[in-house]
Amino acid sequence: MIFDAHHRGMSDLRLSLTDRCNLRCFYCMPRTHYNWLPKADMLSFEEISSLVELFLSMGVHKLRLTGGEPLLRKNLTKLICLLANKPQLEDFALTTNGVALAPLALSLKEAGLHRLTVSLDSLQPQRFEHISKRNSHRQVLQGIDAATQAGFPKKLKLDSVIIRGFNDDELPALLHFAHERNVEIRFIEYMDVAGALGWSWEQVVVRQEMLRRIEQSFGTALALEAADAAPAQRYQLSNGTTFGIIASASAPFCEKCNRIRLSADGKLFACLYASEGLDLKKELRAGKTPSELQQLIHSFWKQRTEKGAEQRLQLKNRRAFKTEKELLENPHLEMHKRGG
Ligand code: GTP
Ligand code: 5AD
Ligand code: SF4
Repeated sequence: MIFDAHHRGMSDLRLSLTDRCNLRCFYCMPRTHYNWLPKADMLSFEEISSLVELFLSMGVHKLRLTGGEPLLRKNLTKLICLLANKPQLEDFALTTNGVALAPLALSLKEAGLHRLTVSLDSLQPQRFEHISKRNSHRQVLQGIDAATQAGFPKKLKLDSVIIRGFNDDELPALLHFAHERNVEIRFIEYMDVAGALGWSWEQVVVRQEMLRRIEQSFGTALALEAADAAPAQRYQLSNGTTFGIIASASAPFCEKCNRIRLSADGKLFACLYASEGLDLKKELRAGKTPSELQQLIHSFWKQRTEKGAEQRLQLKNRRAFKTEKELLENPHLEMHKRGG
């Protein structure tokens, strides 16, 4: 394992497979026009596989495939087969919005993926459309059912970004939905990541308020012991249901952050909020050897000082992280480019 300037180990690789998405959630992709990464810049499956091997040899043991929407990547199951066989890989997950999941769930499991996290912000079709600009709620619910039936070796998780005035009244209903399906739901504070152009503190429902509202419906929620670097604080209700709250806006976990992100075009980022990345694809395509690449990654991580969310918390007038103009100039800043 290698350690950064704050003695945080590098153990969790988040790999974005595409910057494209089939939804337009206003908290992530509110604009009508985006410049997509050119095809020629995207890492091939072979390139991804060899980079993943490098990271595994350096102490990474968790891998999450993200996007954009990773299920939009063609022949995804082939890539999963390539990655799943690597011996050091202890945890292999994928985050999806669920739209294209139903027909794929079983083949993802058979290819060797350990588990899925599906985003679900609302149980109401019209509200889903209001949030995501697409009429795909039915497919998402079918995707969740297919994922529970596919028999993945590890349990399915659901992620809900909770936003005041949009879906905060659905906390109990979402929790009930997850309980009925025996899956764990995590409620996420609305974050001011680049891309969330309309972010404001007023719209953030902080952890304590979420808890209070849940306890009003279900009684006391007992805080569970925190796993090491997991962003979610987990709770248990008296009926045995467990759920999580990810308080990235009001109580960041930067202190323990062990995540490294690789964009679909091979740029390495040390933080969700980092402005510059290391262009690994360029080095790979220039013919650097595995040990030269390891050295580059090593010195990148050793110099890592980023604690983006903590810095944001200290701001007096906290507004959206970047303006539309800044995003147009540096699209890699956006969450859908560097992986959610
Ligand atoms: P597990 O591997 O299932 O434990 O997932 P996780 O708890 O690590 O959460 P996941 O990686 O699925 O991320 C859930 C949500 O947490 C994301 O959708 C983001 O909203 C937020 N999040 C993820 N990564 C970061 C990060 O590096 N920094 C901050 N501040 N928030 C993050
Ligand atoms: N705040 C919190 N989470 C976000 N995500 C994207 N944008 C935001 C944001 N502004 C996360 C959500 C979504 C995943 C793909 O990325 O959890 O489910
Ligand atoms: Fe929504 Fe995720 Fe797509 Fe962003 S990448 S628009 S959060 S589904």
